Amino acid sequence: MGAKAVGKALPHDSAHLHVSGTAAYTDDLPEPRDLLHVAVGMSSKPHAKIKGINLKDVATAAGVVGTCVAAEIPGENNCGPIIADEQILVSEVAEYVGHALFAVAAETVDQARKATRLADVSYEELVPILDPMTAVEKQSFVLPTEELQRGDAKKAIADAPHSLRRRLELGGQDQFYLEGHIAMVIPEEDGALLVYSSTQHPDEVQHLVAHATGRSAKDVVCICRRMGGAFGGKESQAATIACIAAIMVVKTGRACKLRLDRDDDMIMTGKRHDFVIDYDVGFDDTGRIHGVDFMFASRCGISADLSGPINDRTMFHCDNAYFLENVHITSYRCKTNTVSNTAFRGFGGPQGMHAIEYIIDDIARTLGKDSLAVRRRNFYGIGERDVTQYEQKVDDNIINDIVDKLEADSDYVERRNAIAEFNANSVILKRGIAMTPVKFGISFTATHLNQAGALVHVYKDGTVHLNHGGTEMGQGLFIKVAQVTADELGITVDRIRINASDTSKVPNASATAASSGSDLNGKAAQVACAKIRGRLTEFAARHFDVSEAQVAFEQNQVTAGKTKLSFEELVQLAWFDRVKLFATGFYKTPKIHYDRASFSGRPFFYYAYGAAVSEVVVDTLTGEYRVTRVDILHDCGDSLNPAMDIGQVEGGFIQGVGWLTSEELCWNEAGELTTHAPSTYKIPTCSDLPVDFRVELLTNAANREDTIYRSKATGEPPLMLGLSVFHAIRDAIATAERPLPDLQAPATPEAVLNAIEKAAS
Ligand code: MTE
Ligand code: HPA
Ligand code: MOS
Repeated sequence: MGAKAVGKALPHDSAHLHVSGTAAYTDDLPEPRDLLHVAVGMSSKPHAKIKGINLKDVATAAGVVGTCVAAEIPGENNCGPIIADEQILVSEVAEYVGHALFAVAAETVDQARKATRLADVSYEELVPILDPMTAVEKQSFVLPTEELQRGDAKKAIADAPHSLRRRLELGGQDQFYLEGHIAMVIPEEDGALLVYSSTQHPDEVQHLVAHATGRSAKDVVCICRRMGGAFGGKESQAATIACIAAIMVVKTGRACKLRLDRDDDMIMTGKRHDFVIDYDVGFDDTGRIHGVDFMFASRCGISADLSGPINDRTMFHCDNAYFLENVHITSYRCKTNTVSNTAFRGFGGPQGMHAIEYIIDDIARTLGKDSLAVRRRNFYGIGERDVTQYEQKVDDNIINDIVDKLEADSDYVERRNAIAEFNANSVILKRGIAMTPVKFGISFTATHLNQAGALVHVYKDGTVHLNHGGTEMGQGLFIKVAQVTADELGITVDRIRINASDTSKVPNASATAASSGSDLNGKAAQVACAKIRGRLTEFAARHFDVSEAQVAFEQNQVTAGKTKLSFEELVQLAWFDRVKLFATGFYKTPKIHYDRASFSGRPFFYYAYGAAVSEVVVDTLTGEYRVTRVDILHDCGDSLNPAMDIGQVEGGFIQGVGWLTSEELCWNEAGELTTHAPSTYKIPTCSDLPVDFRVELLTNAANREDTIYRSKATGEPPLMLGLSVFHAIRDAIATAERPLPDLQAPATPEAVLNAIEKAAS
């Protein structure tokens, strides 16, 4: 059966609803008549013993129906996703400014929010740790320090003809989804709870809500039709919001909704980890790296959350596309008195890649070579120099092909020369260009999470309900899985209704994360459809007295020998014959295995590749810059849907550029986040788009592994292409007197100016 829907640039299944304002997000759902609104009272101190929380004035404030502190939580006071080290409401010690101390439920949102300010909280202040390096000094960690080593990095560095060392300070990033965190919980009969949550992980919400309310999984259903963006921010931390709402349902007996406003969302929920990175590198005259030693210290905040696997992924991606023969990595998971940081597109990978790309750029500048030449000198080989520091063989390496093609397509060499000429004649405006590659490992590094389920119903009229464990956050997962379903059943996509993610339809689903949503759920749906098509085929062969090989399904038509009938006619006949018309499908990623203790194995099923060439112009008097042109060539395997994938590449890239340029998180000495609204926290806007933006997907690029229709995951990898803009800026400000500008990320105009002035002084 040929692919008909798969591979087509179909629009997002909700596009017409998005643009007409009729796509329902959690806050748009009809509200139960007696709904209460919840607000959270937060700690104003970064580290303090809670001596008392007096809620007398809160409880009697207008509209307030109920309040709750830690001791009143009916079940387990925990929202830690992997380790139970984070409380839903603080019982004894507040550990960051914004830490949830109590909850209030009132008739209106305003009443609930205003009431929280009437609390009388007495604190006994303790000394906070507000940055990762202080945490390292004080040995304050959320998880044990990890080390990974191959070869003898120290000796290789000492013996190398050249060496360099540098400290990098790399900022974090707020997910800045347009729809903030929200949950609405409705009490149902006999103690059951129905949770509507904006979550990438309905299964985890179900379980944590059950634990917090003293129930079990069977008593809680979690539904999410779509999110208005998530970007990792709703992988673990949506559960906290749902737990607070659920606790208030139990307290008040009424339906409760908790929607954080933007400031509270930014203060109370985790972000991308900022890092301090030290490196020592030894290399030769050709630019080849002989040895490298990395120290990564990340701001995890108060609890482990997902910081373990995130920092592991940093260790897995500090090679990016380069073979590091002798490497030593130390990874500190710092406990700081700031919000618990969490998943963000790339999941620690971008921070690792930033380190190695900086090293490559430093080597090139030290040797006076073009950085692309140094990149090529260090790329993984094919059949040699092809084993990662975690012992996975890179057996699908296409980085050279991508870089060669992009170099030609983008006129890299000509433009590099033109830029040199421009800069020689321009005193204040300086141009810069850089190409950076990406190699990103696809799979959850925790092997057991690489599983998925689907449930496909064919109704008597031949139309289909599609359910799977994945969630939709704008990335286009639902349309991709619908395309697979359509082709597998030989019907058109318009015959399929894509249902909300629902823990009562598909149980035990992993988070939609690690970019593996379509890999996992596409395959699970394929398995379910194959079962149904098999039964229909068997029936048609019997009914029309032909062989099964003579039965074909295509475009809502069925052929059985000489007989042609519509899919719905066959389905009707099959139903009369009592053929089962629904099925489940289950998939687990093959080939992967990984031993966390030794950091070795094959954590990733395959790699996704890409490269970007960015050109910028910098005003060296103000530090302002503009991205003038970007060329991207990205590998999506055989794309399931090029429209979705191009959207993912464009969006991911720009989000990466935002992280590395304009998005700056600031905390003051009191431990308060001072950038908690768009007025002070600058995400890219339309006018920041590259003037000339050329995005292409690699063609004839079938995944070498047997993924769904040989596609590749696209969600996260393109974010890291944003590194090319950072290095183009660095390129623009490098001069003979300033060969190695100390540019730090985010490269805000201030940071650019600092780098320029530092070298001048
Ligand atoms: N795209 C949109 N529009 N919105 C999002 O929230 N999240 C990203 C990426 N693309 C996101 C997105 C992240 S962090 C991941 S892991 C993947 O989508 C998850 O979806 P997938 O596995 O279906 O690619
Ligand atoms: N990626 C994204 N999310 C995750 C992972 C991962 O590797 N592991 C656990 N959650
Ligand atoms: Mo994405 S950071 O894996 O949710």
